[in-house]
Amino acid sequence: MDFSQLIRKHIQSLTPYSSARDEYTGKEGIFLDANENPYGSVLDGSYNRYPDPYQWEVKTKLAQLKGVKPENIFLGNGSDEPIDLLIKAVCEPKEDHIMIMPPTYGMYKVCADIQQVRIQQAPLTEDFHIDLDSVFDGVNAATKIIWVCSPNNPSGNLLSKHAVVQILKAFPDKLVVVDEAYIDFADTTSFVDELNLYENLVVLQTFSKAWGMAGLRLGVAYAHPTLIKVLNKIKYPYNINIVTQGLLLEALDKSEQKNEYVKTIVQQREILESQLKELPNVLRIFPSDCNQLLVKFKEAKKIFLYLLEQKIIVRDRSNVALCEDCLRISVGTEQENSALLDALKKYLA
Ligand SMILES: Cc1ncc(COP(=O)(O)O)c(C=O)c1O
Repeated sequence: MDFSQLIRKHIQSLTPYSSARDEYTGKEGIFLDANENPYGSVLDGSYNRYPDPYQWEVKTKLAQLKGVKPENIFLGNGSDEPIDLLIKAVCEPKEDHIMIMPPTYGMYKVCADIQQVRIQQAPLTEDFHIDLDSVFDGVNAATKIIWVCSPNNPSGNLLSKHAVVQILKAFPDKLVVVDEAYIDFADTTSFVDELNLYENLVVLQTFSKAWGMAGLRLGVAYAHPTLIKVLNKIKYPYNINIVTQGLLLEALDKSEQKNEYVKTIVQQREILESQLKELPNVLRIFPSDCNQLLVKFKEAKKIFLYLLEQKIIVRDRSNVALCEDCLRISVGTEQENSALLDALKKYLA
């Protein structure tokens, strides 16, 4: 891929901010270069020094887990940060386009709207699969990024790997971003394994879902080192704080526990699905490969409001294209799911 064609010209020539920790990367010495407090922190921990701006220790450990190089990794404040930065890196406002496949995760459009980047839509089919004809018809010279969300939010299903590969091969000069926020729940391999095959591939993952770290805000983009360098150039210098970097190092030793969570959540999803199916006002439950169920209800809006009164909060997706009368329900604990089912049964009584 010719990144010099793809990356916005002023970003290619940009001189990025050079932080103190960019200019001296050693760990030993008397640090009088960053205007920090040399005595310590008002808090008990050692927070007085700035963190590593490129998080090399963390990336080295994550790279081993994922079978990539540290240079393939960008860490962001949630995956929302790389979503925003990717658009910033390659799309000229009011000129360039991104392609999305609605119904899908809302931040692709919001980040593009904020940056005045145009949106092209290639809606998923009625059963939430990629409509390749629509993608191929829609992509044009101004399209810079094609977003694929798999498993998809809000539908919950995996999209066809074969279709994604066709898109990757058909548009080698555009970024194809595969958002795998929910990949841990799916019975499939990750596109991270294909990183060496496609220079135009970007894979997004997050520690917010299966790893149970949403409150820490940690998302990852895996991509060609040239693109990662560009993202590093335009990010805020110290975007991942010291506490989060330390906790991520700890978390990476606990993938077994993450796998246990995944097993339990998938079991709970199957139980919840089978019990919801019994309810007469449930019209359809869409197949899920993640930790949520998209459920079509008779009287979806009324049920949503009734559940709110019971302090059970689900997501009303009934105004979203192809999701008419649908509520999106995250899989809870056994007790939470039982409370939901009890409330739904009472609604019917
Ligand atoms: C598909 C998808 N991508 C990305 C995100 C953002 O995750 P993060 O918490 O890493 O910003 C979400 C959050 O719900 C999501 O559903």
